Amino acid sequence: MRKKIALIGGGQIGQILAMLAAQKELGDIVVLEIPELENPAKGKALDLMEMAPHGNYDADITGTSDYKDIAGADVVIVTAGRPRQAGMTREDLLAVNLDIIKQVADGVKANAPKAFCIIVTNPLDAMVYAFSKITGFPRHQVIGMAGTLDTARWRAFVGMELNVSVCDITGTVLGGHGPTMVPLPRLTTVGGVPLTEIATKEQIDKLVTRTREAGTEIVKLFGKGSAFFSPAWSAIVLAESYLKDKRRVLPCAALCEGEFGVKGLFIGVPALISGQGMEKIYEISLNDEEKAMLQKTVDVVRKTVEETKL
Ligand code: NAI
Ligand code: 2OP
Repeated sequence: MRKKIALIGGGQIGQILAMLAAQKELGDIVVLEIPELENPAKGKALDLMEMAPHGNYDADITGTSDYKDIAGADVVIVTAGRPRQAGMTREDLLAVNLDIIKQVADGVKANAPKAFCIIVTNPLDAMVYAFSKITGFPRHQVIGMAGTLDTARWRAFVGMELNVSVCDITGTVLGGHGPTMVPLPRLTTVGGVPLTEIATKEQIDKLVTRTREAGTEIVKLFGKGSAFFSPAWSAIVLAESYLKDKRRVLPCAALCEGEFGVKGLFIGVPALISGQGMEKIYEISLNDEEKAMLQKTVDVVRKTVEETKL
């Protein structure tokens, strides 16, 4: 029997998620939208079914507004919510998206209580916390997608700056999904060569700043809405690692229970994503400067999480 993937939210990211999940044959796909957008969700699903003969995939893809249709889902990816507009911070979305996440958490808990859940909605670190609190799901079952994207951006910018393939760049970005995130140049390599040995301090500073502001750079260019291709791919690699038990180590927002000195908060950390879900957080020995930056981003996340009053 095929696996089942429920996509809560069928907007910009949700529709790309559906396409990628289909092309990768991750399983059957249900796209759940608000009742007013049930027909467009059904239409997008049908459009993707009609793409299948050329896309060369088999998957049942459906649209709905009824949570009963997500029953038995193996993976739930939540993008339901409002995106940023030019001039908005992610935190400006807190109140409106918190109400949405509360509804979604209730619906998922009642209908897909075993699903591995990947939250994407912003402000990410607070929304994944809220979802986790409301569902009460164990920590291995809930993660937030942000570090996966932030690291992809970091790798992309390093590749552009040095004119080398992104495929050979490894690295990680820690912390919250916002301007205080912590890219780690010291632990970034290009084909095994330390970034710090082949890039100047000026280049590295520029890369760090661009990565921290990457979401805003796209929002400014779009004028309306935020990035969707790269966020969708970033969520799909997490889902794929779970569904295929690939055991990839991917940065994502995971519930820290003492790791990195953090307790009770979802923070971007390198995590092992296996068929068990978020199986393990890998701790890194940080230097004093990195520790200070991590502390700063944790403080920002804690403040936003406190505003959820959960
Ligand atoms: P979008 O506006 O295109 O799609 C969101 C969809 O959610 C809409 O179609 C809307 O009708 C639906 N929705 C609203 N309330 C719902 C509910 N109660 N149940 C089901 N569906 C509901 O937005 P987009 O671009 O897809 O972004 C989605 C979210 O992802 C935003 O909050 C955005 O800020 C966030 N985001 C997060 C990133 C990350 O790295 N974590 C990166 C990029 C965006
Ligand atoms: C992004 O980083 C806005 O969180 C969204 O693109």
